[in-house]
Amino acid sequence: MADKLRIALAPGDGIGPEIMDGALRIMEAAGVQQHVDFTPVEMGERVFAKGDSRGMTDDAIRTIEDCGVLFKGPMGTPIGGGGKSINVSLRKMYGAFANIRHFQALPGVETVYSKAGVPVDFYVIRENIEDTYGGIEHRLTNDVVECKRLISAPGCEQVHRAAFELAKRLGIQQVHCGHKANIMKMTDGLFLDRFHAIGGDYPGIERADVIIDALCMNLVIRPQNYKMVVLPNLQGDIVSDLAAGLVGGLGFAPSANIGHHISIFEAVHGTAPDIAGKGIANPTSLILSGLMMLRHLGMLKQAAIIENALYAALESGVHTGDFGDASTPPVNTAGFVDAIIAKLGSSPTTREPTTTDAPDTPTLTRPERPRHNTLMRTFEKATSVHVGCDIYVDSVLPAPELAERLQAICEHTPFKLTLLSNRGTQVWPTGSVYTECVDYYRARFELRDMSQSPSLGQGPTVQLLNKVAEKFGVTDFQPLRYFDGKPGYSLAQGQ
Ligand code: NAI
Repeated sequence: MADKLRIALAPGDGIGPEIMDGALRIMEAAGVQQHVDFTPVEMGERVFAKGDSRGMTDDAIRTIEDCGVLFKGPMGTPIGGGGKSINVSLRKMYGAFANIRHFQALPGVETVYSKAGVPVDFYVIRENIEDTYGGIEHRLTNDVVECKRLISAPGCEQVHRAAFELAKRLGIQQVHCGHKANIMKMTDGLFLDRFHAIGGDYPGIERADVIIDALCMNLVIRPQNYKMVVLPNLQGDIVSDLAAGLVGGLGFAPSANIGHHISIFEAVHGTAPDIAGKGIANPTSLILSGLMMLRHLGMLKQAAIIENALYAALESGVHTGDFGDASTPPVNTAGFVDAIIAKLGSSPTTREPTTTDAPDTPTLTRPERPRHNTLMRTFEKATSVHVGCDIYVDSVLPAPELAERLQAICEHTPFKLTLLSNRGTQVWPTGSVYTECVDYYRARFELRDMSQSPSLGQGPTVQLLNKVAEKFGVTDFQPLRYFDGKPGYSLAQGQ
């Protein structure tokens, strides 16, 4: 027999070890471990407690990189102190850029939709690395803090491609892009633009876009209208929990974090400290995440056998204490797992069984380990020219007075002051006296003579920055550039 495929295994904290034990017992009974070796890695609260703020040992990091696949239970993040969420760190460090969650009504899990006969079965694909999750935050003035929201064209493209590839594989004929490009025209606008650009490579799949607030309402009113939604990171985070609510809660939502080299499969709920150690946790989310992992490995037959057994067991009415028919007594985690194992080889009757006539050996192949960080590019040939700059100042002056002083500063430079805005709303040269201000202004300086832009370069804007900094506390500087003849910056509200 060929060498077994190694999978890094982190049972997690709290209920993690209990539900992981159950998931592994089911896999063993379905023959998964004939082809796969689970290699334990040390991560989580115990590692944090030893003072390692990463929450994972060097050995764990090496093993995950060697294996390329991590199967993990929930892990606690220490509140306060330097420890960051392991879950977020792992996704970012290993470039697991697409978070894939499948939300479907399960037999025996009663919801308002199941009672009304409304079918719910859709995927949420969330960009996993960028957006406000860069964690780039600064205190700018006494009263203002900021979080930088970075969206990149290649970052958008890879998540959109992952979504369309999955849709193609699953036979899904329509993919929605959720966004707020009507407000965030550049960031969400880029996410939407790349959605259509990448989707163009998949002519058999219809593309639709929907503004995020309307999407939330539609998902609640008509969830059956959606098959797959792809979203930026923060919006995807929120919508995926909303979606979990439609199918009975986080305990029924599996999650895969897919990257080019390393992928992570995990339950989406937390460590449930209130019930940890009692042996009563519901392992369904982790079992379903394990199925996503088996499919990622190419072990479609075992995934189908376990999926059919899980549905058949749920149909029989077996349930843990957190869901199911209250008139039948709940079983504990081990009892629930035993009930699924007893159904291996059976098929569900209330839904189409998944075909087990499928490959049973791993087919996953990995690209070579990169020798250095990969630089991703999209618009390599774009050309840009400088036309001015936005300089952000810490000031409590009224707008007209601030404008007067800044105009004096730029008097003998190639730039004129064209606007002041406060919290994004223009307050000079026009604006409303009712606009309430804080101690943080944006001053926009643009070329007096735009025909100078091709030869300008960045030097004169930096010289202007120095002059402004002699008189004001400068908190931020943004060059203004045209890219391929179009402004690479937004207008202020009211401009
Ligand atoms: P939680 O998901 O652990 O618990 C919320 C509620 O749901 C609790 O009442 C819990 O008993 C119940 N619950 C959760 N999973 C269950 C299951 N499988 N079966 C039965 N009941 C279940 O969320 P909470 O309390 O906010 O977080 C606890 C810890 O978990 C925190 O340290 C948090 O950082 C961590 N966490 C880890 C995640 C991960 O590793 N992916 C995700 C979310 C939270």
